Amino acid sequence: MITNDIKYTGVNDHLIDMFEGQFVAPNGMAYNSYVILDEKIAVMDSVEKKFAEEWLSNLKNALGEKAPDYLIVQHMEPDHSANIARFLEIYPDAVVVSSAKAFDMIQNFFGTDLSTHRIIVKDGDTLSLGKHKLTFITAPMVHWPEVIMTYDAYDKILFSADAFGKFGGLDVEDDWVSEARRYYFGIIGKYGAQVQTVLKKLSALDVQKICPLHGPVLQDDLEAYFNLYDTWSSYGVESDGVVIAYTSVYGHTKEAVELLAQKLEENGCPKVVINDLARCDMFKAVEDAFRYGKLVLATTTYNANLFPFMKEFIHHLTERDFQNRTIGLIENGSWAPKAAEIMKEMLSECKDLTFADTTVKILSALNEDSTAQVNALAKELCGRSDGPAEEKTEEKKTNRYVCTVCGWVYEGDSLPEDIECPLCGMGYDAFALMA
Ligand code: FEO
Repeated sequence: MITNDIKYTGVNDHLIDMFEGQFVAPNGMAYNSYVILDEKIAVMDSVEKKFAEEWLSNLKNALGEKAPDYLIVQHMEPDHSANIARFLEIYPDAVVVSSAKAFDMIQNFFGTDLSTHRIIVKDGDTLSLGKHKLTFITAPMVHWPEVIMTYDAYDKILFSADAFGKFGGLDVEDDWVSEARRYYFGIIGKYGAQVQTVLKKLSALDVQKICPLHGPVLQDDLEAYFNLYDTWSSYGVESDGVVIAYTSVYGHTKEAVELLAQKLEENGCPKVVINDLARCDMFKAVEDAFRYGKLVLATTTYNANLFPFMKEFIHHLTERDFQNRTIGLIENGSWAPKAAEIMKEMLSECKDLTFADTTVKILSALNEDSTAQVNALAKELCGRSDGPAEEKTEEKKTNRYVCTVCGWVYEGDSLPEDIECPLCGMGYDAFALMA
């Protein structure tokens, strides 16, 4: 039970190996669903398809002999929406409440036209259940364009959809911050600007509990959770330290990495984290890259390009709008080293990256020259403050325009008159200048 009127009806998934087909889930996954019992009854979201019967049984236990009036669909990704059609078979009089975009998706997923059984809500629309007055908050791209959150003013609860969620079942104890950070940067990380927009809207609400679609209900020190989301979505530095992400074919690049770690510690670095990209959870490495202020990339030139795991890693960073960090590079090559040049090129579109002056060039194995470069890189990284270099004087001024329909963000000096949103196809009039 969440409050006197709100009950938990979600499930834990311990059959899952990889969430969304790519994120390891050793502690399983929770798909949360809630019921608000009032004069009218609202069910908040469904769960993953495999757990239809368990969810329906949980609903039955919560409802008793009553039937729900509404199914509120906050997010159409199948981990939450898979049982909408099944729910409507059992409760045919229930009305589905969601955003216009979600109803398009319901039609596409289920071939179901709900035009006689739906309420389309926009940002700020309300729905009264009795005591509980629900206000809907659009949250496009957190994590899909149709997402809405729901605020219950009576119990001061924010139903936050995917936001503030984490990996792991509710019946497993683990570290919330670690698994929420890995979840955030893996799944929502690209959409920092959209998360910032939602956080501004939420700041006007008196929130006493957060009920996400994954992970536990949050109710103590909510400011700490909001602050973490603010740091993550603004690409700020959460922890002081250096992350080294590397690949190594015969161990020579690894030797350089271990030497660098030793030198960083000797130079007073407060934390050194090493990730072997061929063996670690790739998204743990991604999470670390966004957590700390300094990142060293060490890899081998391979097929006149980068060793594959490093290429994949940098791709994961750039597609998540990696920015605002200090970068050190270590390359290894036995005849034509060009890994550093390729890594720098791959990162060239990232904003506010400061590259260390020292690049370590290993020609097969460490020698006197490359060892000296490792020492110099360690000193340089320990001499720098985290985040973008202080000495930067020219701040590139770029405006950001958000598509008010789906949340996609355009960056540029001005908004082109012929702009067409690549996500939802809307034109110039749908865009608003972001603060
Ligand atoms: Fe939990 Fe975006 O689905």
